Order: sequence, then C-alpha cells, then structure tokens
Amino acid sequence: MITDKSQIAGAEVVLPCRDLEATLAFFKDRLGFQLEAIFPADAPAVAVIAGHGLRLRLERAGEDASGRIRLLCREPEGVAGGERMLVAPNGTHIELVEADTPVVVPPLKPEFVLSRMGDGAWDAGRAGMLYRDLIPGRLGGRFIASHIRIAEGGPVPDYVHFHKIRFQMIFCRTGWVRLVYEDQGPPFVMQTGDCVLQPPQIRHRVLESSPGLEVIELACPAVHETFAENLLTLPPQGSIRSATSAASGSSGMSPPKGDGSPGGSQASNVATPA
Ligand SMILES: [Fe+2]
Repeated sequence: MITDKSQIAGAEVVLPCRDLEATLAFFKDRLGFQLEAIFPADAPAVAVIAGHGLRLRLERAGEDASGRIRLLCREPEGVAGGERMLVAPNGTHIELVEADTPVVVPPLKPEFVLSRMGDGAWDAGRAGMLYRDLIPGRLGGRFIASHIRIAEGGPVPDYVHFHKIRFQMIFCRTGWVRLVYEDQGPPFVMQTGDCVLQPPQIRHRVLESSPGLEVIELACPAVHETFAENLLTLPPQGSIRSATSAASGSSGMSPPKGDGSPGGSQASNVATPA
C-alpha cells in the first residue's frame, strides 16, 4: 500500500527502441513531443520526451516495444494527414482518436423481455453494488436496465463521477439512498417510489444507503462511459453529514429525518434530462 503519495513526483512510460534517434525524431516531428532530457551526450541511450499530458522514456535496447498509445485529438483528421494509426520506428502504435467521443445511440431492435426475479445472477459492479441485468439483449444496444442492490447499509464507497449517456433514470424500489448532484442543492434522500432523471454528464455521488437498498436504473445507450471527476468535491468540503447519524435512534432501516431532505416527495431535487 502506498502510504505517502506526495513522495511521487511524476510518472514515465518506458518504451524500448532499437533506433533511438529515429524514434525520437518521430515523436518530436510528427506528434509534437518535446525533448526534456537525453543522455549520455556522447552516445545517447535514453531520451525523455513529454507532450499532451504524457511523459515517455525512450530507451535504446536490443528490441523494440510493441505498446500502443492512444492520442486524444480534437480533430484526428487534422493531425497526421488523415491517418488514424501511426507506427513509430520502434514499433509503437499511435492511435489517433477523438478526445471527446460522441455518444452513439444504436438503432432500436424491439424485443419482448420477461425478466423473473429468480432468473438472473447478481454480478458485482461499480462501488460495491450488485447488478441484475434486466435486458440481456440490450435491444440492439440502445438500452440497458439494471436492478441494483446494496445488501449492507451505511456509507457507499462511491466517488464523484459522471456518465456519457443520452438518457438515464433511477427509480428507488425499496429502502433509501442518499445522493448528491452537482448544482442541485445539498445531499438528499431518495426513498421507496422516488425517481431521479439524470441529465447527461451531471456530476454526482452516492453517499450512503439503507440495508437492502434496491433501485432500478435505465440508461441509453447500453454501453456508455463512466468517468471519475477528480476536480470536484461532492458534497463540498465541510458539508458532509451522515444520514444514518442524523436519524436519531434510527436502526438504519428507516429513511433519515431532519437532515434537510424533503422526506417524502423529492420533486425539488428531480433533475430533468437535457
Ligand atoms: Fe452514476
């Protein structure tokens, strides 16, 4: 376990190469990397270059690297004359991709789906949650629906994140869950029957839940990216308050009272889709 991350000053990816000079020229001239260090001066064996948030250490070796670098581009077509895959002299592949990948919604393939409670397996998903797949066929990739369960109540090991989706809805089937959303006021509690529509890319975090929480989540498209948001703290520093501890005398099975949440209808906290 790392106990003092402040001691780490940086990170480099090491790429072995038989022809250091040609590989260095490729990264500098074709891709705009800058030389930061090279040594020894009389017969260079190592060159450190940096660019686009990446630091590479090119080391002369008896064999080339077979790694692959994804170069995130605003307009990939304008970077290397339209080429989307370059190969450095040392064999490293450089894939030119869009930095902001568009959300693609596949055509709907209608299907009758009956999902029985006892049919599906529960799989371990993100942040310690269990997922039951309600649409295994994904309707052509357009929709995913999940029955999500948190067996044990208490703090949820979630982090601030967002989803690149077109549509997302969460319905609380049983229990309660405490959430916080960017620009939607203080944390609030969803209770049985409450529903939230999450606009695309809204930053949010699950804070804690009752034992046996169950929610139904529907999203489009089925396959979408989830990103951690490391630049935003939710809730803001100093405003974290445990719903369980706020519920004086609560066993954890009942929704918390007196914590600022409406308690019943959450209409004021329901965001509308973009
Ligand atoms: Fe989420």
